[in-house]
Amino acid sequence: MSNVTVMNHPLISHKISIIRDINTGCKEFRELIEEIAMLMGYEALRDLPVEDVQIETPITTTTCQMLAGKKLAIVPILRAGLGMVNGLLALVPSAKVGHIGLYRDHETLEPHEYYCKLPDDIENRQVILLDPMLATGGSASAAINFIKQRGCNHIKLMNIIAAPEGVERIQKDHPDVPVFIGCLDEKLNENGYIVPGLGDAGDRIFGTK
Ligand code: PRP
Ligand code: URA
Repeated sequence: MSNVTVMNHPLISHKISIIRDINTGCKEFRELIEEIAMLMGYEALRDLPVEDVQIETPITTTTCQMLAGKKLAIVPILRAGLGMVNGLLALVPSAKVGHIGLYRDHETLEPHEYYCKLPDDIENRQVILLDPMLATGGSASAAINFIKQRGCNHIKLMNIIAAPEGVERIQKDHPDVPVFIGCLDEKLNENGYIVPGLGDAGDRIFGTK
């Protein structure tokens, strides 16, 4: 799989195992989604450009590196992507945050848009698109289309759990978009849920079921 990075990290695997557990409650689920997002973000932002700056320490003047280049925009896909935002903001507190509202029709599995508000200067930013779940890939592909329509072509997608079907869809629709995945699961079931997965991420984060 080109342009796809599956996190192989014991901390991430451990935390994903806990959120899969049906007995994990809302509070712990929410906290772990945020922590996993932060750990994944650390890896996904590894190639951020840096520039040399002169810093005066109490001892001497020295050349150090600080972030340079494009500013970031964090864009969660509502609802479940919201759970990952604070994890990314902990790493890059000055990032702008856009929102894309999509829900998946339970029968057709097609995504429907109900909200889209992105930073005005999105075309000049590196976008990190967040959604814990990549199932058919329809929602993420539609969200990437919205961002591209606004002139932004620097997009990374971050999903905690993905089905092979979703990864294939993104690679086909958006081969230019690097995908970062916490765990690649086995398949989708007949209802479009990821197996083994963790159920409905939005419901588990917000306690709606
Ligand atoms: C879930 C999930 C993704 C989407 C993935 O959202 O958070 O956005 O499904 O499925 P796909 O890859 O097949 O498009 P859902 O539509 O359940 O909305 P919610 O977050 O509001 O619960
Ligand atoms: N959306 C979810 O929240 N979970 C799945 O398994 C598939 C889509």
